[in-house]
Amino acid sequence: MRLATLGLAAAFMALWGFLTGKSKKLSEQPVVSTINVAKLGMGIFLFDKYILVKSDASIKVFSNKCTHAGCRINQEISGQLVCPCHGSRYDASTGKVLQGPAGLPLSTIPFSTDAKTGEITIKI
Ligand code: FES
Repeated sequence: MRLATLGLAAAFMALWGFLTGKSKKLSEQPVVSTINVAKLGMGIFLFDKYILVKSDASIKVFSNKCTHAGCRINQEISGQLVCPCHGSRYDASTGKVLQGPAGLPLSTIPFSTDAKTGEITIKI
């Protein structure tokens, strides 16, 4: 009886959160990724949710979502990030558009760095 009451209360709270919009769906939860960049070489790394660009001077993280119609950018050619849908190209070091139809640069994704471990944490 007690367990049934607790279960009913939990179901009610979940329903209340859903109806009021105060609970986030799993797909709305931020994706957190931790990478030890000290172990990565220099280059352009295409991950599932973002693009990491590591050079001597900096580390940058860009969204891999094309700013034209949202396709996933999945190719890098000679320092250019290429969208497979309509051919937009972006400069991998800056995220700026080199060739349309996209008109806006790639979004940068902020990250935090742990100086002790060399890890960066990216929250999308
Ligand atoms: S969605 Fe990328 S170029 Fe159209």
